[in-house]
Amino acid sequence: MATPMENVNQVLASDPEDRYVRGRMTWNPAMQAIPISGIRRMVNKAAELEDVIHLSIGQPDFPTPKHIIDAHIHALEAGQTGYTMDAGLPELLDTLASYYSDRYRSTLTSENFLITTGATEGIYLLITAMAAPGREFIVADPTFLLYAPLIRMLGGQIRSVPTRAEHGHQLDPERVIRLINPNTHAIILNSPSNPTGTVYPRETVEWICQEAAYRGVQVISDEVYDHLVLDDMEYPSVLTCSADLDHVAVVSSFSKTFSMPGLRIGWVVADQNTIRMLRRYHMFTTTVANTPAQWAGVAALVHDRSFIDVMVEEYRRRRDRVVDLVSNTAGLTGYWPQGAFYIAPSLPPGVDASNIAMRMLEETGVCVIPGDAFGESSTNLLRISYSTSMEQIEEAFARIQPWMERQPEMRDSYSG
Ligand SMILES: Cc1ncc(COP(=O)(O)O)c(C=O)c1O
Repeated sequence: MATPMENVNQVLASDPEDRYVRGRMTWNPAMQAIPISGIRRMVNKAAELEDVIHLSIGQPDFPTPKHIIDAHIHALEAGQTGYTMDAGLPELLDTLASYYSDRYRSTLTSENFLITTGATEGIYLLITAMAAPGREFIVADPTFLLYAPLIRMLGGQIRSVPTRAEHGHQLDPERVIRLINPNTHAIILNSPSNPTGTVYPRETVEWICQEAAYRGVQVISDEVYDHLVLDDMEYPSVLTCSADLDHVAVVSSFSKTFSMPGLRIGWVVADQNTIRMLRRYHMFTTTVANTPAQWAGVAALVHDRSFIDVMVEEYRRRRDRVVDLVSNTAGLTGYWPQGAFYIAPSLPPGVDASNIAMRMLEETGVCVIPGDAFGESSTNLLRISYSTSMEQIEEAFARIQPWMERQPEMRDSYSG
């Protein structure tokens, strides 16, 4: 009779390569919908090089305000290290409800909120609770890279609406509405957008929300950059563009507004039935969000928030400069992004951005993200993040501009 160890050896191939292949076959085939991240590819390459300037960063470069750190430490010291209620820390739910009600003059209560592990978990819960074979989701292209793979994993289908740098990457609501058919399940909005920085005007959001409600389609709105609106305009949240919460759900977080992405606190805002369902589901993902970080979130909301104005002012200054620099760079077509800390200029038609981005990184040491990370129709875009100092931005463009002028693909398109 074989010993247990011999049995193991019969099951495992002796060649490690074979073992690896066999191991992979144990994954759920749905895992094939998870792409190799275009961001990782660039950042990994950058890690091998010296003197790299990152215009690839997707998080604020400001330190977390001290009172938020203090509240986090205080919560730890006060023994706030257990699980919270499944919907979240009651104090945070109440604080969020009054903060949203003040901001949007709405009548949201704590029962309209679920605290999640960053907006990422909120997106995961909403999409995976809805996506199913045959269901269609309408998304902009380019768009934040989490949505499409999650939809595809569950057998749902993407109907994408390409946007163009020439039009400021604005979403054409008529095109969105024309795509609605009996299989349409949801429309995903992200304004201000990652990767484009585009802010949709009220008319766009209202029109989409109205049509969606009329046709029984859900709107999922990712509003993580809702405070990072750089021009003097009122932010059109879907919460102020729809008559009720019947067909809308918002995800947001503290990550960008309060410069605390590593504390991982986000939330979903939706009608009470949706929240009840997601609360049950959330028990199977993370159970509850990090408790001391939820206390840090309470501090973020109740203390003086003028820090946000200072941050927005600095992003505005950088945005103005980056728009100028982009417009003076061979081959790039820019526009006026109104929010977040990104711009996604296009390269001349047909030029492969992933090839340009990799060569640019290797030859100039400037790291940007190619558009294929954000959608199949966006292969000639570059995402440039200005979440870095003005000095780094100036130095990056001082390297990029002469380099771009030398690239044969850019020459014909530049008259500056
Ligand atoms: C549009 C968008 N949504 C969601 C997230 C995730 O945010 P969080 O840190 O709250 O999970 C990001 C992070 O980059 C983002 O850009």
